[in-house]
Amino acid sequence: MEQSKFYELTEQISKKLHEPISDIESLKQWKAQLIQLIDEVSEVKLISSIESMKKTNTSLDPSDWSSARNVSHQILETSIQSIQSIRDRVVWQPIPNEIRSAIENESIPMQSHSLSDVCNDALNQVFPYTRGNTHPRFWGWVMGEGTFGCVIADMLASTMNINAGACTHSAVLVERTVIQWMRDIFGFPKGENGGLIVSGTSMATVICMATARRRYLTNVRRDGIGNGPQLIVYASTEVHICVVKALELLGFGSKALHSISVDENFRMNIDELKKTIEIDRNNGLVPFCIVGTAGTVNTGAFDNLVELGSIAKKENMWFHVDGAFGSLIILDPERRHFVLGIDQADSLAFDFHKWLHIRYAAGCALIRNGMDLFSTFSVHQSYLANTERGCAGDKPWFCDLGIELSRSFHAFKIWFSLKEHGILKLGEKIAENCRQAQYLASQLEKHQEFIRVIRPISLNIVNFRLEPEELRLSTAEEIDNYNNELLADIQISGIAVASTTRFHGRLYIRVCIISHRCTLEDFDIFIENLLALARVRLRKDTN
Ligand SMILES: Cc1ncc(COP(=O)(O)O)c(C=O)c1O
Repeated sequence: MEQSKFYELTEQISKKLHEPISDIESLKQWKAQLIQLIDEVSEVKLISSIESMKKTNTSLDPSDWSSARNVSHQILETSIQSIQSIRDRVVWQPIPNEIRSAIENESIPMQSHSLSDVCNDALNQVFPYTRGNTHPRFWGWVMGEGTFGCVIADMLASTMNINAGACTHSAVLVERTVIQWMRDIFGFPKGENGGLIVSGTSMATVICMATARRRYLTNVRRDGIGNGPQLIVYASTEVHICVVKALELLGFGSKALHSISVDENFRMNIDELKKTIEIDRNNGLVPFCIVGTAGTVNTGAFDNLVELGSIAKKENMWFHVDGAFGSLIILDPERRHFVLGIDQADSLAFDFHKWLHIRYAAGCALIRNGMDLFSTFSVHQSYLANTERGCAGDKPWFCDLGIELSRSFHAFKIWFSLKEHGILKLGEKIAENCRQAQYLASQLEKHQEFIRVIRPISLNIVNFRLEPEELRLSTAEEIDNYNNELLADIQISGIAVASTTRFHGRLYIRVCIISHRCTLEDFDIFIENLLALARVRLRKDTN
């Protein structure tokens, strides 16, 4: 602002205000002069505020780039260190009360904090208390470790911050390429718009089931399912709960799922499936979809996909495969026959974040016929118009193939990591996990007088339960409880994380090996600590 001009004008105004006025005519002149002065002050203020707006940086970028650069380098170094030294740390640790309280009771941040202060909070309060799945002895549920490459890819993805829902940009091309790679791997026919990347198999299952629904109820998008026939879906009793969730969400209700029992190898009973379909048709229901599982969550069992595919074809039904992790066995030449017939599926849901080691979250819905996805999800809106030239080209967009309009560029970390490691090496790691499962089972069975292992073990999952002689007079529930508490002891010790499941109502400790970092020595460490902690727990429980 021109300060001197401003002060000069305000002084003149002040003087003018105190001028003596003796008649009406002088009053009129006085008023006109005062207004003139005020106009001049406004002019000066306007110019000066535009000048100051030009000078002020109001963006959210760092005000001090050199300090931001230092903080960023430190954080990258911490990330590298953390992954490099992962073995030296506990797998999992409970969150101390003061940390829990610091996070839970923090009030809304109204004012800014420096980047380095926020980083300190993140490193002290959040970073150490993770689920533990980056550690080689994390074997709970079905959890991937991630790769170091994904850290780099995520940094670049955040920098690009592409909304991958629509328009012309590299993310569209990368995602289409990843989808085509996956179609090639699973033997799906060449074709465009035949899949999309989502957060995980649960979401992919919703996409696949919605697509199947529209194929059978052509007007479902307009009419809903209210007056439609009672469509029935068939899956084994081992099916993952995400299928039930999808059916509930899509309005079929969980009653639409007819469960088929499994044989001693945990595979769907084919004769029972055929019979149930026939009975349902005779009762006026409409058998519409068969869900085969490639790698069940409990034991890693594979349904007979060849048989399921041919029944679906004969019965004019949709054939969906839940291949969350097990479908990737296709990359292991020795075991790829487990998924024979997967290429006949109408849809396949699987994850990148499990056995392909991509950072969370990344799953995939593949649909045999690309037009099906487009017919199910595409919309026409004036504000989403395609243009021949410029940014809004490259239709159909991924928002036309799924639910989300705004979409993360999940495909980047997948593209990056697949290029970095290559499919052959990833397949070798999968085979290694299967061999490790056999090793663990054989080591546990050295104690078969009190450790019971569930067999067969076809993939990477080992379920076992301790039944010590000292508990021979205990009830089955008490032995369940002993195993459950023992598992908590192991987790809290920081040595390993496994989870539990039930077979015939009884609780088993479940080890699911997805890690690309673990070695046979990790299983020796696990068993040694398991036996030691089992003895301590026994003393506690029997005293
Ligand atoms: C066989 C199977 N299907 C579906 C899912 C759900 O996958 P997501 O957690 O990626 O939604 C899982 C998860 O473990 C699974 O094992």
